[in-house]
Amino acid sequence: EKQGFKHFMLKEIYEQPGVVRACLEAYFDGEWAATDANKSPIHLGLAPELLADLQHIQIVACGTSWHAGLVGKYLLEQLAGVPTTVHYASEFRYAPAPITPNTLTIGVTQSGETADTLAALEMEKKRRSSFTQPELQSRLLGITNRPESSLGDLVPNIIDTHAGIEIGVAATKTFVAQVMAFYGLALDLTDRRQAKSPEQLEEILVGLRQLPAQMEVVLESQERYIEELAHDFAETQDFIFLGRGINFPIALEGALKLKEISYIHAEGYPAGEMKHGPIALLDAKVPVVAIAMPGAVYEKVLSNAQEARARDARLIGVTPMDEQEAADTFDTLIPVPHVDELLSPILTVIPLQLLAYHIAARRGLDVDQPRNLAKSVTVE
Ligand code: M6R
Repeated sequence: EKQGFKHFMLKEIYEQPGVVRACLEAYFDGEWAATDANKSPIHLGLAPELLADLQHIQIVACGTSWHAGLVGKYLLEQLAGVPTTVHYASEFRYAPAPITPNTLTIGVTQSGETADTLAALEMEKKRRSSFTQPELQSRLLGITNRPESSLGDLVPNIIDTHAGIEIGVAATKTFVAQVMAFYGLALDLTDRRQAKSPEQLEEILVGLRQLPAQMEVVLESQERYIEELAHDFAETQDFIFLGRGINFPIALEGALKLKEISYIHAEGYPAGEMKHGPIALLDAKVPVVAIAMPGAVYEKVLSNAQEARARDARLIGVTPMDEQEAADTFDTLIPVPHVDELLSPILTVIPLQLLAYHIAARRGLDVDQPRNLAKSVTVE
């Protein structure tokens, strides 16, 4: 069943290009035709009234799905221009934001069974029943890998993430699939609201379609190297992950993966926050992994990384191939293909998954079933 892989987690990491291909096929068909404004290549199968006149989106989720929600927020705000908030479901259920008619609530849960996420959505459903128009009552959307789950019974609209069953407790392929669902949703909303031209949308879609092959390049060129690199961290007790913008949630995800399966203490921060406290943690014993992809925050991340270097921290950069400035900044490079910053999380997350995997495997830990954790958390 593991098809030659030592653990399900590694197999599932390798399945990710195929999962992204499946999502592309399911969500997009054809291209944006500049001449026909009514023709959209996006097919999410959502009721048209669900996305009409939105003023706000609120996302509820836990763990890795919450990180996917943060990437979603970036896309929904920066592409579609819809103000978006992301909540831990366990917090939201006891302190919900005031309800407004034109808010869409999105629950993200790969299993469709996470108790806190279901409870937050149930509460939201109840609150929305006070609206008289049926289309306002049903402004709830689930993003899940299991449409036949409790979530599927609860919410009237679902985006299926097509990742196939995930066995490793650490979510990997279901995360990239959730992020793909958010690309689909954000592009759909951007198109409906005419927030970008068809040419701009088409360019993003062309970039998305190149991702599976680029993911394969990352896997083929980096896995062995990361396996070797993991040896260096046999005694490491703390890690810091830095990112900014759309890669800030990826820094959080890298830290969560490492904590979860290797039991090493790890924190993810938006790189610009380091100087407001966390930089005091740094010394030669605390490696810093920074995600630096060319775009709006590239120079900023590099200069934040240099601040860490001044504290003797070992700097590991997830950064594009052939970037001299990055090569000069980092002690260790994990190169990924050059790609638009907007699309980069699908690539930058892979080295972080591999790093967590190889550190844990090298320590001889039970990667697929880490201590104290269950695949789906069906109790509060
Ligand atoms: O099934 P869900 O997506 O609702 O699960 C949410 C979290 O429990 C889950 O993402 C957890 O954080 C993973 N084990 C992370 O790898």
